[in-house]
Amino acid sequence: MKSHSSFVCQQCGYETPQWYGKCPNCGEWNTLVETVREEGKRQTENGKRGIQSAKPQKLSEVKHIEKNRLKSGYGEFDRVMGGGIVPGSVTLLAGDPGIGKSTLLLHVLSKIGGMYVSGEESAEQVKLRAKRLGIDGANISVFAETNVEGIVSVIPATEPESSGKEDGSRVKPGMTRVPLVIIDSIQTLSSSDLDGMAGSVGQIRRSAELLIAAAKSRSIPILIIGHVTKEGAIAGPKVLEHMVDTVLYIEGERFANARILRTLKNRFGPVEEVGIFEMADEGLKEVDNPSALFLQDRVKNVPGSVVTVIMEGTRPLLVEIQGLAVPSQLAMPRRVGSGVDYNRLQLLVAILQKRLNVPLGTFDIFVNVSGGLKISEPSADLAIALAILSSFKNKALDPKTAVFGEVGLLGEVRSIGSEDRRSKEAKRLGFTTVLSPKIARNLQQVTKYLDG
Ligand code: TYD
Ligand code: MG
Repeated sequence: MKSHSSFVCQQCGYETPQWYGKCPNCGEWNTLVETVREEGKRQTENGKRGIQSAKPQKLSEVKHIEKNRLKSGYGEFDRVMGGGIVPGSVTLLAGDPGIGKSTLLLHVLSKIGGMYVSGEESAEQVKLRAKRLGIDGANISVFAETNVEGIVSVIPATEPESSGKEDGSRVKPGMTRVPLVIIDSIQTLSSSDLDGMAGSVGQIRRSAELLIAAAKSRSIPILIIGHVTKEGAIAGPKVLEHMVDTVLYIEGERFANARILRTLKNRFGPVEEVGIFEMADEGLKEVDNPSALFLQDRVKNVPGSVVTVIMEGTRPLLVEIQGLAVPSQLAMPRRVGSGVDYNRLQLLVAILQKRLNVPLGTFDIFVNVSGGLKISEPSADLAIALAILSSFKNKALDPKTAVFGEVGLLGEVRSIGSEDRRSKEAKRLGFTTVLSPKIARNLQQVTKYLDG
């Protein structure tokens, strides 16, 4: 068996036969790691994967996937997936440690049945979590394994009751098809073909390759958990995101309850859908009225609090923006934004200074978004500006007022998308005054609402 060695960048996945201190592709330093690959084994695997036997197929004869989607009955999850899990598809669920990835997928698995491959926790630990979630687990098998070849070899053979029909084509007689496989997590897997440690780019890529091949050839969907690094990137190479069919991202503040599930990529559905969950003692619960969740802790009639309406996917969502302006002791006053874009915050402070002559130059300014949400759209500009101003002037906004609109450099309020939908949602939740770009034309006009 021939083995050859190459150097793989742990940052971008670039592969080269030669070592460099600096990756020629992404420019990162000290990221190339030697990876040994045994050629012979790899080719057999390729053969097994049926790559050579793939044939062109008539488009009209290609099976329509919509009908076959597996529904978890977990509405928010199914919707984010584009209507359920497509057989043979591979989905990556990424998120910070401790955010609820294992919990979410165990819920999903309990509804559909299948195999839970745990590289992080023992079978007992998985059992404990299941118990806490009220899952008896009769339709789930647990496999504590980290060797990807070992995992792939049992995929068609695992026992739990199959929920789907069997077409029998690739499942050997006597074997029950597993409806679904969960891998927890990709960073713990390693292939016997490679030398690198579990979690290295080479191992992650190789493990993903084998899992994807197994999913496709056996028509079994696989959901893979992936951790995220401090910088927010999915640990391991970007290539992982390109390899899988769907990439989901679960986020939220670890110590707040709300969890938001987003699609970053979906070959089988829209990418703008968002699912909202609440972490409770018995696991992740779907949230029927997300706006109410994000406003539940709001203190009314306090300066610095402004409610805005953002769009999460296609849904309007009410959130509270808090602003705090306090005299600074520093030569360079602080501007700290949590959940808002830092540059946007700087810009809004500058606009307030210039257009409304508010002397914020000697004030520290803090802005926070409720519930650990991150806002990237400029529609929250007006609310951010107003929250800062409200704190500065020490005047509260009427608690039944919602505010949205982009703020331009001239202090003008600019129109944004889905204004009617946002206004409707605000009215639905009992907000009687909606300061939208149609009503509030510029910052000067909006300040009146702070003066009572
Ligand atoms: P977990 O799913 O283990 O996160 P991840 O797989 O993303 O690392 O969940 C982590 C946290 O969620 C854990 O700190 C405890 C909390 N939790 C609950 O609040 N309620 C529950 O029912 C469960 C299972 C976990
Ligand atoms: Mg986990």
